[in-house]
Amino acid sequence: MTFEPKILALCCHYCAYAAADLAGSMRLQYPPNIRVLRLPCTGKVDTGYILRAFEKGIDGVIVAGCLEGGCHFQEGNLRAKKRVTLVRELMSEAGVEQERLEMFNLSSAQGQTFSDIVEMMTKRIKELGPSPLRKEVKRVPEEIAR
Ligand code: FES
Repeated sequence: MTFEPKILALCCHYCAYAAADLAGSMRLQYPPNIRVLRLPCTGKVDTGYILRAFEKGIDGVIVAGCLEGGCHFQEGNLRAKKRVTLVRELMSEAGVEQERLEMFNLSSAQGQTFSDIVEMMTKRIKELGPSPLRKEVKRVPEEIAR
């Protein structure tokens, strides 16, 4: 069975989410491995969100915010960038590939870019395999389940 990664995209409402919407309107094809969570700004992303996502079995996380200088809340995307850098360092220390987490900056007009990002991250995570933090859900043998 081929590995199909679960990828969470934490998208800013004003840019990345709009770009995802545009990609849909343009009928661009991208892998269905992604689940998009809309945030008012990537400045809302804290380290706990990302770590919990991995803990819950997500194989990769995309943080996507406005272009630098274009954040509607001044510096939310710059704060997010610092947090992503911090979590990548923590992941590396814990023996988890930091390539599983990446931040991108894009505008609402970049539907094609959004699609390309999803394509690229899905390919990357497929190559890395399941997250080492993913808890194996073991099937309970039927005689025990009864
Ligand atoms: Fe888009 Fe802040 S409003 S990243």
